[in-house]
Amino acid sequence: MTVDIDWKNLGFSYMNLPYRWRAYYKDGEWYKQGLETDNQLHISEGSPALHYGQQAFEGMKAYRTKEGKVQLFRPDQNAKRFQVSAERMMMPKVPVEDFVHAVKEAVKANIDYVPPYESGATLYIRPLLIGVGDNIGVHPATEYIFTVFVMPVGPYFKGGLAPQHFVTSEYDRAAPMGTGGVKVGGNYASSLQPGASAHDEDYADVIYLDPKTHTKIEEIGSSNFYGIERGTHKFVTPKSPSILPSITKFSLLHLAEERLGLEVEQGDCYIDDLDRFEEAGAMGTAAIITPIGSITHKGHRHNFGTGQEVGEITEKLYHELLGIQFGDIEAPEGWIVPVEAD
Ligand code: PLP
Ligand code: COI
Repeated sequence: MTVDIDWKNLGFSYMNLPYRWRAYYKDGEWYKQGLETDNQLHISEGSPALHYGQQAFEGMKAYRTKEGKVQLFRPDQNAKRFQVSAERMMMPKVPVEDFVHAVKEAVKANIDYVPPYESGATLYIRPLLIGVGDNIGVHPATEYIFTVFVMPVGPYFKGGLAPQHFVTSEYDRAAPMGTGGVKVGGNYASSLQPGASAHDEDYADVIYLDPKTHTKIEEIGSSNFYGIERGTHKFVTPKSPSILPSITKFSLLHLAEERLGLEVEQGDCYIDDLDRFEEAGAMGTAAIITPIGSITHKGHRHNFGTGQEVGEITEKLYHELLGIQFGDIEAPEGWIVPVEAD
């Protein structure tokens, strides 16, 4: 079947596709799973996900290769992070194999919606686990729904590989020993207001500082941060318990070192020492690799280069990562998982 979609002009927006995978949990076990067509969830008004944010989610993509095949990028890593998030939220863990199976089934069922190779679009995959059932006290749910839905998307930040401008915030997205290190809705709820203020001022997104001292870059509302050190070309990315352990970040740490021969470091990135970096970028599944043109902090704008161009190393990393994800460049072992059409 061909679907009538203008692939090249897709934004990052919800689309109600024909199928989603769902699994249901009660009395200590998963009791029903399969594809469903209804995009609405029918849940109790007492659901802890609604009141107390007992939920976790993931973000992944399926890629169409030059030969027309469809493949996933490191889905086992998302499965493992989903388990860590579930544990932190006192929810049952979805076994890694079941998670990957659910993702493959959701992609396969909507295979016609995986955008063509070189369209600039991909199929975004959103696994979600929510605590449901009749509750009012602050305690974990006894029932859960795991759902995986998908939709074709274009770039999260407009313009693809084009520099974007960011601003710091006086707000924190997560507390020092809070939930910043897991992928749960509460972190994003607290980022809505600073995110809206940043957008109102025409910034692409917010750069959050470490919640303890507000002196070091933590991460971006939607992605992790990296800088390329002036002179050494070292790839530097913040290390903190309150940032999301980004799969794109770990992949780029590996590729920067093994394929580009760069030194890499996970360490402090002081907001008052941005001159240290000749390039900077945002990295994540939705953000892909987005060059950071400038960061505005306390009213002062710091440009990386002229603030308008894409740095040489950022460009190399971008082509290496996307080459692997779209099947044009050989991947490190285990990174690419094919979705076999029936
Ligand atoms: N940081 C935040 C706050 C995110 O929402 C994301 C997106 O998932 C990332 C970082 C990047 O993580 P990943 O590379 O695993 O998509
Ligand atoms: C992702 O990159 O998958 C995310 O979940 C980020 C989100 C802000 C869209």
